[in-house]
Amino acid sequence: MREVQGRQAPDDILIFDNYSAGYLDDDGHIINLLDSLSFSVKEGRALGIVGESGCGKSITGLSAIRLLSKQLVVQGGAIFLGNENLLEKTEREMQDIRGGKIAMIFQEPMTSLNPVLSVGFQIEEVLARHRPELSPDDRRSSAIELLREVGISAPEKRVEDYPHQFSGGMRQRVMIAMAIACHPLLLIADEPTTALDVTIQAQVLALMKRLKGRGSLMLITHNLGIIADLCEEVLVMYAGRIVEKADVETILKKPIHPYTQGLIASIPTLRGERQKFLYSIPGMVPAAKNFPSGCRFHPRCDRCMDLCRVEAPPLTKIRDGHSVRCHLYSGALS
Ligand SMILES: Nc1ncnc2c1ncn2[C@@H]1O[C@H](COP(=O)(O)OP(=O)(O)OP(=O)(O)O)[C@@H](O)[C@H]1O
Ligand SMILES: [Mg+2]
Repeated sequence: MREVQGRQAPDDILIFDNYSAGYLDDDGHIINLLDSLSFSVKEGRALGIVGESGCGKSITGLSAIRLLSKQLVVQGGAIFLGNENLLEKTEREMQDIRGGKIAMIFQEPMTSLNPVLSVGFQIEEVLARHRPELSPDDRRSSAIELLREVGISAPEKRVEDYPHQFSGGMRQRVMIAMAIACHPLLLIADEPTTALDVTIQAQVLALMKRLKGRGSLMLITHNLGIIADLCEEVLVMYAGRIVEKADVETILKKPIHPYTQGLIASIPTLRGERQKFLYSIPGMVPAAKNFPSGCRFHPRCDRCMDLCRVEAPPLTKIRDGHSVRCHLYSGALS
């Protein structure tokens, strides 16, 4: 059990505690991207992070594994894995955590697989680093088992093959095999199926569903349908801030933030109902250097009030497990 800001948090695997990050512009000024993120991923559960392109989803995932590019800087807060603040770890310590306790899979597996090494070798490399007790023979048989587990047929033969000999969907399966090789506490999946065609997408999603529950999952996607399928909890991000967080039912059926409502209204066929005209939220996510004052969503919000232009709303707890960052609910009006 751990105390976080005075609360007991018995089953939180990963905790973002008031975490902020920005980037250095050409003049050396820090421009804020992620603002005061506080949330947790619970043991054995899946948290979905959703929001339009440019909202900061990937930077959030990369922060948790400390793989931010050089221009990005941490501005404050902490990220706990268990009791340990990952922001205090050395790069050497992070190398042990990555692939061991936290693993990440990306949209395009080719960027993470080494084209000149067989997939078997690459899986065995992960095992050698994090499970040194395994003999080379054990590593080879584990690699074959892992490939079988993620649905690669004839894994005894395929283990010798190179990434280019696999299709996109198969490469993503190989990435998943590498990611689960050491039974990580947390798997971060950043748009794991976006680059795949629809049928293959469904197969990879079915695989992820099958693997669910072995550890915790942070699933980053702009697709609420995928979140509905896999996640228990959802974080809605807009322009680097959490605007709403709740259980998946609430987000899909009773969202209260105007941005979440807009996202839900933009889903073409939620629960099989076809809409004649697909809603889309007017405007687009601004670049960080142009984030507006007050509520960052206010220029696009059809319920914008004067207050929203000048004052950022706090993240307000509506009830246990449901919070929203919007002046309609902040009590500022009463
Ligand atoms: N090094 C950087 N310098 C300046 N801005 C950056 C840098 N890295 C990221 N950004 C900006 O941070 C914002 C958030 O980026 P991020 O990649 O996390 O978005 P995302 O929600 O994952 O979007 P997508 O759905 O397109 O993947 C974007 O506006 C992006 O342009
Ligand atoms: Mg992204």
